[in-house]
Amino acid sequence: MARVLVVGGGGREHALAWRLAASEAVERVLVAPGNAGTALEAGCENHPVSVDDHEALVGLAHREHVDLVVVGPEAPLVDGLVDRCAAAGIAAFGPVAAAARLEGSKQACKEFLRANRIPTAASVAVTSLAEGRAHLADFDTPPVVKASGLAAGKGVVVAETHAEAEAALEAAFVERRFGAAGDVVLLEERLEGTEVSVLAFCDGERFAVMPPAQDHKRLADGDRGPNTGGMGAFVPSPVAGPALVEEVSRRVIAPTLAALAAEGTPYRGVLYAGLMLTAEGPRVLEFNCRFGDPETQVVLPLLVSDPVEVFRACVEGRLDPSSVRWSPQAAVTVVMASAGYPASSSPPVPISGLEEARARGCTVFHAGTRLVDGVVHTAGGRVLAVTALGPDLTTAATTAYAGVAAISFPGEQHRTDIARAGERV
Ligand code: AMP
Ligand code: GLY
Repeated sequence: MARVLVVGGGGREHALAWRLAASEAVERVLVAPGNAGTALEAGCENHPVSVDDHEALVGLAHREHVDLVVVGPEAPLVDGLVDRCAAAGIAAFGPVAAAARLEGSKQACKEFLRANRIPTAASVAVTSLAEGRAHLADFDTPPVVKASGLAAGKGVVVAETHAEAEAALEAAFVERRFGAAGDVVLLEERLEGTEVSVLAFCDGERFAVMPPAQDHKRLADGDRGPNTGGMGAFVPSPVAGPALVEEVSRRVIAPTLAALAAEGTPYRGVLYAGLMLTAEGPRVLEFNCRFGDPETQVVLPLLVSDPVEVFRACVEGRLDPSSVRWSPQAAVTVVMASAGYPASSSPPVPISGLEEARARGCTVFHAGTRLVDGVVHTAGGRVLAVTALGPDLTTAATTAYAGVAAISFPGEQHRTDIARAGERV
């Protein structure tokens, strides 16, 4: 029986902890730092250790005789937590820092994609406002402006005009809005199409693709309003059938794993390809070095195979892709966010209706929540992800929205059209 430590405290980590706790191979799930959801989850326990405190995380893993560390967020991966665990003799699921740079530096990622002829948008890297301004004229349509470093999902501006692109350059270089993450900025050709997330379990050489999910990045219905971390997701994606999975496997994932192995830093963990399906074929918008949030909240409930076995096989370089099995059901998750999200934060308020949502057939994953005197309160922008499964998207979405209707807290906001795009096709 394994003891597993999940690092992180968002909706993705609650889904990971929940799925691991359901495994017959798992004795205990420790979560650092976790949230109210993981505190209340059977078989799970929170430990108040920050994801940045690698020393304390390794200490916790040693003290509690943890057999496997599963790292949720990108920052500790990019900062070398998996390298640190390996040096301490602790098995950790996730890429080493050298491989995680594909997310940690968009500039390094672009160089990697170009060097390996993996399809992506044209771009130029600039390091000053003057250089950026000089390049703006090279773009017929306004470019997408991206801080190269980690910016907690807030470093990308999809500009509608050249003036907006210039303002984004000023935000990075003059206001220094992204700190050192904005020292290098990419100006990137804007692509049109449908976005899809293709994630794969990787063991350094072999990989198993998960059911592709579609995320909803914009805050408001109809894909309007500002970009967010993701307001909901669904599986299956009607635009990502077996032919697309085959093409992405062949043109994106396989060459990426081969190149990293050849560089001596094999990729072990989850490789997340954020793709735009353009008229000319799929293009990589970004790589993430981890599970998606909220994609995990729809993908993991469909994993039939034992998660510990899959994660361990990846860590040990012995993944048998045909052994990773999935439920054929549809899954929908709807994110419920706090007032002001994503622009500003709001004070904690109590949440009601969580039990009723469960009674209506949903699994409620917590993100920004915390217990105050035993009562679940909001504690962040994205608060909950309400997931439901069903034989088809319409049924799953109906159940998920019945769960959302049962839950309330002051200032709550959610989209009412999650998975609609999937049902229409
Ligand atoms: P990224 O973090 O690079 O994936 O960018 C965040 C979001 O910005 C993506 O999920 C897309 O919605 C959008 N985006 C990024 N790059 C482009 C592009 N080249 N063309 C159009 N939209 C983009
Ligand atoms: N859902 C987008 C991400 O996890 O980056």
